[in-house]
Order: sequence, then C-alpha cells, then structure tokens
Amino acid sequence: MTDKRIAVVTGASSGIGRAVARRFAEDGLRVVAAGRREEALASLAREAAELPGAVLPHPGDMNGEGYAGELLDAAGREWGAPSVFVLSAGRGLPGTVLGSDAGQWQGLIESNVTSVLHQLRACGSLFRSHAEQDGGRQVRDIVVIGSTVGRQISAANPVYGATKFAVHSLVEALRQELCAHNIRVTLVEPGFVRSGFQEAAGYDMEWFAKVAEENGPLLTPEDVAETVRFVVGQPAHVHLDDIRIRPTRQKG
Ligand SMILES: NC(=O)c1ccc[n+]([C@@H]2O[C@H](COP(=O)([O-])OP(=O)(O)OC[C@H]3O[C@@H](n4cnc5c(N)ncnc54)[C@H](OP(=O)(O)O)[C@@H]3O)[C@@H](O)[C@H]2O)c1
Repeated sequence: MTDKRIAVVTGASSGIGRAVARRFAEDGLRVVAAGRREEALASLAREAAELPGAVLPHPGDMNGEGYAGELLDAAGREWGAPSVFVLSAGRGLPGTVLGSDAGQWQGLIESNVTSVLHQLRACGSLFRSHAEQDGGRQVRDIVVIGSTVGRQISAANPVYGATKFAVHSLVEALRQELCAHNIRVTLVEPGFVRSGFQEAAGYDMEWFAKVAEENGPLLTPEDVAETVRFVVGQPAHVHLDDIRIRPTRQKG
C-alpha cells in the first residue's frame, strides 16, 4: 500500500484488531486504535513509534451510541478525514441454546449487533458525505470481522453465531447501500484464531486445546490482518467483499 490513509480500528487492544492496527502502521497508515484497555493501546502506540505510520490510542467502551463518532472525530482532529474503518471489537459466549448463560444474552447482542449497527451507521454516513463531496474519487473501506459461525450454523456455539449471522446480513446490506459511492464494505469471516477471544468469552480451555489439536495449527491474528491489508490495498475498482479464512485443517 503506497498512500498514507487514515484508519480507525476497533478491538485494537488485542488479537485481530491489534494485528490489523500494527500491520497498517507498518504500511504507513495513521490509525486511531480503540478498545477499553488503555495500557494495551498505549503499548501498541509505543511499538508503532518505530514504524512508518502512527497509532493514536482512543480508549473507550463500544457499547455507547456515540462511540464510533468519537473515534472518527479523533482521527479528523489529529490527521484529517479517515477513509478506512475496521470493526474488530467483539466477544463470544460459550454454550448452546439450552446451555448458555441467559444472563449474558443481552450484553452479547449489545456488543456484537447493536454496537456494530451504530458503528456501521456512523462510519457509513461520514464516508458517504465525504464521497458526495469528492465525487467518490477516493476509495473508502469499511471492513467487518464476522465469523464462520455467522455463515454455517453451529450447534455448539449458536448464540454467538446468531449475532454474527445478523452482522453478516448488515454488512451485505450496507455494501449495497454504499457501493455506488466507491465505498467498499467488506466481510472477513475467520475460523479458529488463537487470540484473547476464547479466554475473554469464558470458553472451556481444555475444549479449546482439543480443538487446536484437531484443527491446528490455528490462524494467528496476523494471518487475518494480512487479509484485511490485502482487501484495502486493492485498486479502487476491485472489491473482495466476502472472504472466509480458516485454518487449513479446520473441517466445519
Ligand atoms: N478468535 C476467533 O477464533 C475468532 C473467530 C472468528 C471471528 N472472531 C471475531 O474477531 C473479532 C476480534 O476477536 P479476537 O479474536 O481478536 O478477540 P480478542 O483478542 O478478545 O479481541 C477482542 C477485542 O474486542 C474489544 N472489545 C470487546 N468488548 C469491547 C467493548 N465493550 N468496548 C470496546 N472494545 C471491546 C477488546 O478490547 P478491550 O477488552 O480492551 O475492550 C479486544 O480488543 C471479534 O469480532 C470476534 O467475534 C474471532
């Protein structure tokens, strides 16, 4: 990637989002990095100080209507209009329809669906208004991290999977709404990735060790970040809009 685009990356304190923010900074992009953990974002910014791009930490909780707007404003104040928005923040929930903790359903839907919807609206409307001003001459990218369980029904993980099914449909709908403005809305659907995800969600780590043995080597956050980088690095008329990336040995 040759230009110095300005990006916002959510979930940048860990896993896929962190790897995307770092990869962007390696490529010279300037990145507003979001997540709740201030120290994790600060450490990413310190790493990026050695890289061609830059990282501006902007800690906060995504479960608020104004969250994405604040991130976009921060980018605008620091560097100018952003043209890339990566939505990686998200969480899992172990258990089946009968077995999952019903007390966590609302929080999961708020983080993985309602918050994503607010973020999509905030970056989609800003990008559309900028595209109206420049006639869409500059390409703009919204990249959303979905999941294989948002495409294939998983009896083992259906509640989290349902939130990703919802996200997948929103991404395609927004793609159709914005494509005429040269705005690419992209879905990346990873399979098993070794990250902070499993522990944060409270998955049984013995179960996960078995999954890793059967399906591994699992993906790394850097594998997914490389895909995101490839997508946003395409010429303006090329859109890889829906990409599934799995460990080679993952069956389902
Ligand atoms: N790991 C996998 O196997 C896998 C597979 C398919 C899809 N995915 C998806 O990939 C995305 C990234 O997951 P990951 O694997 O990178 O997991 P991760 O290492 O746990 O990272 C999750 C990120 O989301 C942020 N986040 C969570 N809740 C938040 C909140 N309320 N406010 C602000 N930020 C919040 C976390 O930051 P803070 O904790 O600092 O707030 C963290 O940076 C998620 O959407 C996940 O559903 C993961």
